[in-house]
Amino acid sequence: MCGIVGYVGKRDCAAVLLDGLSKLEYRGYDSAGIAVVVNNAVEVIKAQGKLANLADKMNSVGRPQGTVGIGHTRWATHGEPSDVNSHPHRGGEKVTLVHNGIIENYKEIKEQLIAKGRTFVSDTDTEVVAQLLDSHYTGDPLSAIAATMAEVRGSFALGILFSDRPDCVYAVRRESPLIVGAGEGESFIASDVPAILKYTKQYYLLEHGEIAELDRNGIRFYDEKTGKPVEKALQTADWDMEAAEKQGYDHFMLKEINEQPDAIKKTVLPRVENGLPDLSECGITKENIRDFRNIFIVACGTAMHAGMVGKYVIEKLARVPVIVDIASEFRYRDPLIGEGDLIIIISQSGETADSLAAMRLAKERGAKTLAVVNAKGSSIAREADMLIYTHAGPEIAVASTKAYMVQIAVMYLFAFELALSKGKITEEECRRLTGLLLDMPARIDTVLARSAETQEIAKKLTETESLLYIGRGLDYALSMEGSLKLKEISYIHSEAYAAGELKHGTISLIYDGMPVIAVDTQRALHEKTVSNIKECKARGAMTVLVCGESACTDSEIADCCFPLPETDDLLMPMLAVVPLQLIAYYAAVLRGNDVDKPRNLAKSVTVE
Ligand code: AGP
Repeated sequence: MCGIVGYVGKRDCAAVLLDGLSKLEYRGYDSAGIAVVVNNAVEVIKAQGKLANLADKMNSVGRPQGTVGIGHTRWATHGEPSDVNSHPHRGGEKVTLVHNGIIENYKEIKEQLIAKGRTFVSDTDTEVVAQLLDSHYTGDPLSAIAATMAEVRGSFALGILFSDRPDCVYAVRRESPLIVGAGEGESFIASDVPAILKYTKQYYLLEHGEIAELDRNGIRFYDEKTGKPVEKALQTADWDMEAAEKQGYDHFMLKEINEQPDAIKKTVLPRVENGLPDLSECGITKENIRDFRNIFIVACGTAMHAGMVGKYVIEKLARVPVIVDIASEFRYRDPLIGEGDLIIIISQSGETADSLAAMRLAKERGAKTLAVVNAKGSSIAREADMLIYTHAGPEIAVASTKAYMVQIAVMYLFAFELALSKGKITEEECRRLTGLLLDMPARIDTVLARSAETQEIAKKLTETESLLYIGRGLDYALSMEGSLKLKEISYIHSEAYAAGELKHGTISLIYDGMPVIAVDTQRALHEKTVSNIKECKARGAMTVLVCGESACTDSEIADCCFPLPETDDLLMPMLAVVPLQLIAYYAAVLRGNDVDKPRNLAKSVTVE
């Protein structure tokens, strides 16, 4: 997903922009560029590839000297990655802008502009909006922006320079997140908080349909449609630079895997009172969650896998039907959801387009909405009826780890509270389970201390073309997450499969030496899982067991084993996911991949 930065102040703008863009690299990109106002003209430098290419180009062509500018990291949607398709883009003589998101009707606008004699140099929708803005510009930025917004459709955010307004940066938001940082005699725009933390922790959330005007005297906000000034509340980032840095780890992903015990404490402890779940600070009481007919859990990727854990636990304890769905499927299958139903949207970024759209659809149909979100003030967080923030801190690595961990921790809290409110478990049982949840950080620490064992397992996987993750029940949900982690950062193909389903076709894939990672933590299903592992072993598979320590006895079935400290079966996912994360991490490292910024991926997918 693209990254936007902008600056007005007294500093070396090019340096501020490059630094800000480097803090947004985790979002994934394939090119970058900056525009700086120099002597009432706008100089643009852009380059395909990593930020280092842009810095090299700046050194070779000369670094633009100015104190006002905008910058961008591009994750290509329209037009291949190339210098010419990189942002910033110009519109005529006056307009230069950067863009995150999609302009849905760019083709028809482009045709209209070409008919009026305008020419284009790129294949991007961004250049179309730059040219359109320039066509509306007669000296008043706000009215030109408003006229442009009236014509374009899509979800996006823009950072804009007008060459005859050399001391100003403008920004406008339609869905895609954008913040406005407030410093001393300087101000910023950015797609996310890490880009400005070095300079200020104070920022405003630009809302849908608002325009921001920044200059050295301050920041002003206007309603895009009416042009009227808008008063906004100043936010303070609860992160600091250090939290957003690697702190000595080789990669953000390894740091974030090791931050999981702390993330659980920060997320769970404020929601436990006298040994029982207390979600009242999130607007959740026993009374307002007790009577839902169905519960839908809708999300994408890893967040959806956390929802799978939630399904098993909620159904097991509260005896309420739970339907888990991929957001991009849910929103287009005319779902049977309405009054009396609850939809739980799980999202680390709180900006995933499909998840946001799924929540809006459910709301339109009368369902209550509960968001489980990590990013404070994000779109999903602000639109939900009920909201449980996870407190994992900034998750910079594209591969989600600590966010997943605290998402399932919230699923447990919600399931315990719901089951107790419905009288399906006693207060004593609820206290027992909550106590086990509170013990998890210490137990996970013991697993983290054994990372060398996962490194050894990873070495057995790096040459394989493909492998299977298998499990039953909660172990199947964990297999899905383990498989995604491996695929997305090591680029090794894998598939998660319900262990009991293998014999219905997929087992034909197994060749001599094929790795099969079996998750076997559910004691009630252990015998069945063992027989499935034996089916694989009998066909030559190299079997890796991630299991409870009492299961790691049968050397016949396991070529290698990662025994876990045992707890209630329901809570084993919090322990089992850690070796799966570490195996994926070390496999990626061994293959020399860019672990924190895997190819083709973005941290938050704010486009469909
Ligand atoms: C997980 O490792 C991936 N980065 C991806 O699947 C992610 O979980 C998914 O895109 C959902 O993102 P969200 O939690 O921000 O909505």
